[in-house]
Amino acid sequence: MFDLDRFAADCRTALAQDHGAHRAVREVVARAVADPSSVLAGLGEPRRAGVQKLYHAPDLTILNIVWGPKMTLMPHDHRIWAVIGIYTGCEDNIFWRRVEGGKVEAAGAKALRTGDCTVLGRDIIHSVTNPIPRLTGAIHVYGGDFFSIERSEWDPETLREERYDVAKNMRLFEEANTALATGQ
Ligand SMILES: [Fe+2]
Repeated sequence: MFDLDRFAADCRTALAQDHGAHRAVREVVARAVADPSSVLAGLGEPRRAGVQKLYHAPDLTILNIVWGPKMTLMPHDHRIWAVIGIYTGCEDNIFWRRVEGGKVEAAGAKALRTGDCTVLGRDIIHSVTNPIPRLTGAIHVYGGDFFSIERSEWDPETLREERYDVAKNMRLFEEANTALATGQ
């Protein structure tokens, strides 16, 4: 069964690689989500949308992110590399690039399904949609302190850059839970 302490220790070992730490971490995450039922057994079947901190250090953050049914998170950046591994459900990612006036335009997409794993470089801007009517669970590993880094989001309607608003983003998860509870 997926063991969180073991997983975090493996990520730390991978992080110590002088070159290509993110690729080494990707291998650790890919290995974990290659056996999604083991991750489900270790972390528990997702019951509600949210961001669960699994491990947090200045140089490494591991999150269990559960997306609500059909939930979309607006374009945002991280300013550190990230590795995403899906253990149940789906993430449809749109990748964006900066254009003039602080705006972004769509540049590509990647559909991640259960068992898939991908690396996002430090400059990547993405938005995430869970396209299915049930919860999606993903392990997200970041090469830094996810919670203290100043970063940006882009308004989904105007595509203009704004300061990333943690409280607003957390509210989106709670709105997803309200919709789940009321069957909307
Ligand atoms: Fe993200």
